Amino acid sequence: MDRDEIIRILNEDFVREIEATMVYVRNSFVMKQCDPSRVTEAIAVDEMRHMWWLADLIVKRGGKPVMEHKELEFGGDDPRGMLELQIALEAEGIARYQQQIETIDDREVVGVLKHILDEEKRHRKEFRERLSSV
Ligand SMILES: [Fe+2]
Ligand SMILES: [Fe+2]
Repeated sequence: MDRDEIIRILNEDFVREIEATMVYVRNSFVMKQCDPSRVTEAIAVDEMRHMWWLADLIVKRGGKPVMEHKELEFGGDDPRGMLELQIALEAEGIARYQQQIETIDDREVVGVLKHILDEEKRHRKEFRERLSSV
C-alpha cells in the first residue's frame, strides 16, 4: 500500500470522525435525559481527539486533512433513535478500523488505529447501556 493510499484512507476516517463529533454535539443538546446526554457529550470530545490523531498522521505523511463531510443524519429527536444511530456509527467505525488494522502496513498508523478502535468499542458499549434507560 503506497503513501497516497494510506492518506486517502486516513482522510475517509478523518471525515467520519468529523461527522461523529458534530452528530454527538447536536444530540447531546437535544437529548432531554441527563445521563445519555452527558455521555454523548463526553464521547463527542473523544471523537474530536480522534480527528487530531488522524490529522497528525495525515500531515506527517505529506497530506492535508479533508473537511468535506456528507449531509448529517442525527437519528431524529427521540433519544432512542439518536442512540440507535450513534451505536450504528460506532459499529461502522469498529468494522472499518478492524479491517484497516489488518491491511495497512505502517506501524505508527496501525498503533493509532488500534487505540481509536478500543475507544470506539467502549463508546458502542456506553451507548448500548443507555438504550435500555430511555
Ligand atoms: Fe472516533
Ligand atoms: Fe466513537
